[in-house]
Amino acid sequence: MLHILASAALQFSLLPFGYGQILLVAARDAVPEVFDQLYALSQRQLFQLAKVRCHRCCIIAKPDSVSKSVFLRTQRLAGGVDLWFTGGMDRALFDLLGRTALVTGAGRGIGLALARGLADHGADVVLVARTAEQLEAGKRRIEDETGRKAWGLPFDLSNTAGVAPFFDRVVEEVGAVDILVNCAGVNLRGTTEDVAPETFRRVMDVNLTAALMLSQAFCRHRKQVSRPGRIINIGSLLCQAARATIAAYTCSKTGLLGLTKTLAVEWAKYDINVNAIGPGYIDTELTAPLKADANFDRWVLTNTPLGRWGRPGELVGVAVLLASQAGDFITGQIFYVDGGWTALL
Ligand SMILES: NC(=O)c1ccc[n+]([C@@H]2O[C@H](COP(=O)([O-])OP(=O)(O)OC[C@H]3O[C@@H](n4cnc5c(N)ncnc54)[C@H](OP(=O)(O)O)[C@@H]3O)[C@@H](O)[C@H]2O)c1
Repeated sequence: MLHILASAALQFSLLPFGYGQILLVAARDAVPEVFDQLYALSQRQLFQLAKVRCHRCCIIAKPDSVSKSVFLRTQRLAGGVDLWFTGGMDRALFDLLGRTALVTGAGRGIGLALARGLADHGADVVLVARTAEQLEAGKRRIEDETGRKAWGLPFDLSNTAGVAPFFDRVVEEVGAVDILVNCAGVNLRGTTEDVAPETFRRVMDVNLTAALMLSQAFCRHRKQVSRPGRIINIGSLLCQAARATIAAYTCSKTGLLGLTKTLAVEWAKYDINVNAIGPGYIDTELTAPLKADANFDRWVLTNTPLGRWGRPGELVGVAVLLASQAGDFITGQIFYVDGGWTALL
């Protein structure tokens, strides 16, 4: 059996490898309840993921100061240490343990990848979309593969009046929500001279109005619990560019960027950071018809300096940055993850 000395933050990333015994290292003066919670969570993960029976837990040092004497003491306690991981504080910057994220549009594509990525970094996740079967499959997969708790809660965001009550039901069911990712989005194409008001409204409702309604409910909730929060809005290249036949989509995405900046300015006083991610051309169900069109596919490859379509998982890094302690001083920004597309403009 392997004995591993790792910081509290690091030990979670070791679990998928199925190591036999992990020693939690936390600050000697760590708040006991926090440590107890961490211990309980790690127990659950150990049993679920690694099927490990034996688990030792001891508070012996600050994670950033694992010294030779700590190492020797651990060796005595554990009867030997086979692997020694340090650098836990760097990892803690991106650690989402103990946080819950609500991700809309998480039945598939980018939203599902973001939910999975946040769970990989320790967050419990609430998946929201309309298709219950996709949510159930995503929930199962995330729970099985990350050991985090996940919920799949169907809701149609075009029902903008129902968004606030829905959010309250979510809080009742899952407890506090710390991170909101507004990712659900639709695109209805047609020449702008013919666009019908109901088509325009439908896109705006899902892509922009629902994001505002959810953000408002989230803000009220964060104020109630007096805790900071993070909002991440999924924008688009069309936050700063335009293409023919998608007026409603473009307006909804430029609007979402405006909303991002406005909320960042207004809600800084509540300690709520609001940012956006602008994905380039990402291979998902939404873009499947575009990718299948040889001319459009060639256009994307030519105009994307990295010369390929992006993958949904490639947006996770920025999302984790914006959701975690690493993003404490970032608000009101948009980060393009686009293979260089916007640099070519
Ligand atoms: N793919 C790209 O290249 C790209 C580029 C830039 C920006 N984006 C943005 O990224 C986001 C995700 O796009 P994607 O490519 O992952 O699209 P996708 O594969 O079509 O996924 C969209 C998600 O949104 C959900 N959704 C759609 N309408 C909804 C509604 N009325 N209520 C609740 N959920 C709804 C869908 O689930 P249900 O249908 O089951 O409701 C699905 O889970 C969108 O905001 C999109 O604008 C994508």
